[in-house]
Amino acid sequence: MEGLKEIITANQLHNKVMELADEINRDYKDLKDIVLVCNLKGAFVFLADLFRKIKIPVSIDFIATSSYNGTEAEGNVRIVKDLKMDIRGKNVMVIEDIVDTGFTLNYVMKYLNLHNPNSIKVCTLLDKRSKRKVEVPIHYTGFIVDDIFLVGYGLDYNEKYRELDYIAELILERD
Ligand code: IMP
Ligand code: MG
Repeated sequence: MEGLKEIITANQLHNKVMELADEINRDYKDLKDIVLVCNLKGAFVFLADLFRKIKIPVSIDFIATSSYNGTEAEGNVRIVKDLKMDIRGKNVMVIEDIVDTGFTLNYVMKYLNLHNPNSIKVCTLLDKRSKRKVEVPIHYTGFIVDDIFLVGYGLDYNEKYRELDYIAELILERD
């Protein structure tokens, strides 16, 4: 049996997206060649909302990563869908759903840096800071969250619950 407990409402998400977009609009207003790189799949809902509130010209691209579950080794992250765009000399902003241990983001940052962008910043909707195993730079954070398993607004549990317009804690109940 699975249960859901609402943690962040649709309204709170909406307001936070507006706040983050305002900051980004202000910080990036004099920059050109901005590319939002969305880490699939979880970040696609956040990207779609944030992107529509950004009032400066930006391009988007997508990568996808996969990591073996149950292990905590940094080397286990892989790129399973590569960039289409050449990001050399571009101002890249990585869009993440959630940063947990940091292994995924750490790998993504190293990978993107190999392509020699002009700058890389990170915007994550959720930060499970207490779980961090590797230091990663985060420039824009939506919400700092506790060490609980979250679903909704793009985040899944075995591909379920991505469609929720709020974020919930997944409660696994024994029957
Ligand atoms: P990290 O490599 O440990 O930082 O893990 C990041 C990835 O783990 C995220 O992009 C998510 O795909 C997944 N993840 C971590 N915590 C959660 C959660 O609470 N709900 C859903 N996915 C999560
Ligand atoms: Mg993810």
